[in-house]
Amino acid sequence: MKALNEQEVVVTGGAGFIGSNLCRTLLEHGAKVTAFDNLYSGKIDFIKDLMDKGLNFVQEDIRDPTALEKATKNCEVIFHLAAQTSVPFSMENPKEDCEINVVGTLNVLEAARKAGARMVFASSCAVYGNPEKRPTPETYPTHPIAFYGLTKLLGENYCRFYQETYGLEVVMLRIFNVYGPNCHGAIYDFLNKLRKTPDKLEVLGTGKQSRDFVYVSDMVDALIKAATSPAAAGQAFNVGTGTTTSVAELAKMIVEILGLENVEIYFKGGQAWAGDMDITLADNSKAVNKLQWRPQVSLKEGLKKLISTRRY
Ligand SMILES: NC(=O)c1ccc[n+]([C@@H]2O[C@H](COP(=O)([O-])OP(=O)(O)OC[C@H]3O[C@@H](n4cnc5c(N)ncnc54)[C@H](O)[C@@H]3O)[C@@H](O)[C@H]2O)c1
Repeated sequence: MKALNEQEVVVTGGAGFIGSNLCRTLLEHGAKVTAFDNLYSGKIDFIKDLMDKGLNFVQEDIRDPTALEKATKNCEVIFHLAAQTSVPFSMENPKEDCEINVVGTLNVLEAARKAGARMVFASSCAVYGNPEKRPTPETYPTHPIAFYGLTKLLGENYCRFYQETYGLEVVMLRIFNVYGPNCHGAIYDFLNKLRKTPDKLEVLGTGKQSRDFVYVSDMVDALIKAATSPAAAGQAFNVGTGTTTSVAELAKMIVEILGLENVEIYFKGGQAWAGDMDITLADNSKAVNKLQWRPQVSLKEGLKKLISTRRY
């Protein structure tokens, strides 16, 4: 398999959080990169400077097979990151969630088949639901507890069928909780709340919910390794650090790094939202052994890096 610097690649969801960071690194590697995104949750601001550095931006929808086929015609790798990523939205709008995340994924697989491209699929730890075994290995039975997790599992199954039926090379990454420049989620939420009111911080849920947080440069490294490792085809890999941090601990850590004093941290109680998971913790030994992937950035270092970029 060729190094990515010689290749033409397409990143669906390229204007989103992980996608924009991936496009940046791919361009630095010298790849010819197209970001395919309808700006559903992505932002032009995330990629504006990259467009000056040669990023080709196609503002289209993965629900449009013709647009996808046109954009991916000559590419060798498709990173499929475009998705509806909100668990609460999926619980309120299961049909739209399915149209974007399942039918959209099927369209991307079909485009990859026509182009003869390898595809890397951004799946999620949400496929496990609330597993009893933690750290959770890839062999643990999948049992999503939200429509979002269900659509990711269906996406994985379509990927497997495409590999088995057409010999398409597909790699699935079960991504845990990623943070970094341009992120959304709890870390983004805490930093922005503290920017507005530096003396108090409301935390959704009990604060006991706990997450395996991965810094985005480690995530990008996993995506690139998935795209370039011949042994990875047809397989699912957990992308998590193998450590978990409660949301209450996270809040304290952020307050400390910001150097704020006498901050009142209070918890709303109950479940943060319908379909929220209790604890996520990856067994990442498969990615370590087969992809030679090793997370490099600790949570404390990552938070400091993110805060210093001010891109939140
Ligand atoms: N961030 C995480 O912690 C995390 C965890 C697990 C899985 N993932 C998966 O990784 C991928 C990237 O996540 P992210 O955090 O960057 O999310 P994001 O919302 O920032 O990015 C998703 C991108 O997809 C685009 N998009 C949505 N619907 C589209 C459509 N119909 N056509 C074209 N583009 C569309 C959005 O505009 C956005 O730019 C997603 O598939 C997500 O499910 C992310």
